[in-house]
Amino acid sequence: MSRFSGFSLLLALIALTMPSTLSQADSAQERRYPADFLWGVAFSAHQTEGLAGGGENGDWYRFEHRRRWYGKRTIDHGDTADLAADFWNRYPEDLELARALGMQTIRTSLAWEKIEPRPGEFNTEVLAHYRAVFRKMRELGIKPMIALHHFTHPLWFHRQGGWTNPESSRWFLRYAERVVQELGPECDLWLTFNEPVVLVLLGYLQGVFPPAKISLHGATEAAWNLARAHRRVAAMIHRVQGPSPSARGADGNLRGVGLASSTQYYDPYRPGDARDVEVASALEDIANWAFLRAVETGKLAIRFPRGALLKGFERELPAEDIPAAQRSEPFQDFIGINYYNRFLIQHSRLNPLGFRWRVSPEDPKSDNGWAIYPAGLEKVLRRAARFGRPLVVTENGLADASDTKRPAFIRDHLRMVDRAIQGSELGGPLDVRGYYAWSLTDNFEWVRGFQHRFGLVEIRYDDGLRRVPRASAYLYSEEITARKSQRGNTKRR
Ligand code: FCB
Repeated sequence: MSRFSGFSLLLALIALTMPSTLSQADSAQERRYPADFLWGVAFSAHQTEGLAGGGENGDWYRFEHRRRWYGKRTIDHGDTADLAADFWNRYPEDLELARALGMQTIRTSLAWEKIEPRPGEFNTEVLAHYRAVFRKMRELGIKPMIALHHFTHPLWFHRQGGWTNPESSRWFLRYAERVVQELGPECDLWLTFNEPVVLVLLGYLQGVFPPAKISLHGATEAAWNLARAHRRVAAMIHRVQGPSPSARGADGNLRGVGLASSTQYYDPYRPGDARDVEVASALEDIANWAFLRAVETGKLAIRFPRGALLKGFERELPAEDIPAAQRSEPFQDFIGINYYNRFLIQHSRLNPLGFRWRVSPEDPKSDNGWAIYPAGLEKVLRRAARFGRPLVVTENGLADASDTKRPAFIRDHLRMVDRAIQGSELGGPLDVRGYYAWSLTDNFEWVRGFQHRFGLVEIRYDDGLRRVPRASAYLYSEEITARKSQRGNTKRR
């Protein structure tokens, strides 16, 4: 789960170039995608927009410009997102490019720090800018999925303790309410948070993302307040836009509110070792499912593996956060799955959490050292299906500057979506409603800066940020077309 820690460097050192072993012989005839399946690309505000609109008011701006934190470099090579991909100014070009590639939906986020630079003060020009972006998407026939939050915060929020402040969920609700009032007419598909567990682990436990804290107490407070914030905002969206038990809107497409979870695949390092099996499953539960369970049940419960020095805990989310009439409504209309890689986990007495990360020498690696393991996508979808909600792959992709591994990566992972939708020897058909490739263009990859290239479209940073589609962009487009033509009907918005 610590995808940005030193261990990923280790992974990078043993990068292999093993070809994909999955069969591509299956016939497109077998595939049956629902007519309203959402094919798209994902990106986020801070990673693409640049400072325009008030990025200086954000915690990441300060973090990037501070450059060192307790003597450690904050961002590799001293990169900053001051210009990023300049999406703020170039959005018409990028949206048209996405349309030309056959995208029906785009997932992006809003920069809270630009919208609410001071507590309770909303920047109407920024809101008008976002409205124009989403209108442009809709003109092009692209359905927006908007994340209210993708890792960044206003500085005022950061200065008051961020997610450890007991008021934090109320502040987030105030911001979200204003956004949904203003942008609701353009959007009926929302994410509250992107990867809240990653934010907690990297920001409050490992100290590598802002607010750069290392505190177990801070981390548990932050997780608890983030879960409260999700539920409050989901209930608000249902009040404003209507509850969506079937999660289908007037246009027949998916609608409502969810969150995008980082759900990676966890395997024991030694499958025959009971202690490795136990730590891998405990860690999978903490990283993948505990937050979703809290959102569903109203109780945050963390269980550490036996032998860990830390004690698990259970804590209720306050019922009074939610108006009485809404307490039994669902708090998520779909589950967003961000899937990238697999981790091998080994039991260890040396670590207070009772485990250590290991690397599978067999899995090929992407440029940033993440293990490429397509089968994990079907497996995490099957586990997420236990919540009984529709599923959306909200992110999937890899860092691959040479674009040599991306074609097989896309094909192999889409094959796993096929298997999830059709059913496979692992289980029956699942209700998967969409797939978003990360990312449309190269962008600012958080503490790793610009070195890792996740884009279907290359950004030439040394040539005026020129956009150059990689071959895999066309391949993704063709894979989508092949699946669209296999649908029962072609009803579209
Ligand atoms: C995910 C993040 C996204 C991007 C990809 C590569 O964890 O949500 O912003 O950094 O990884």
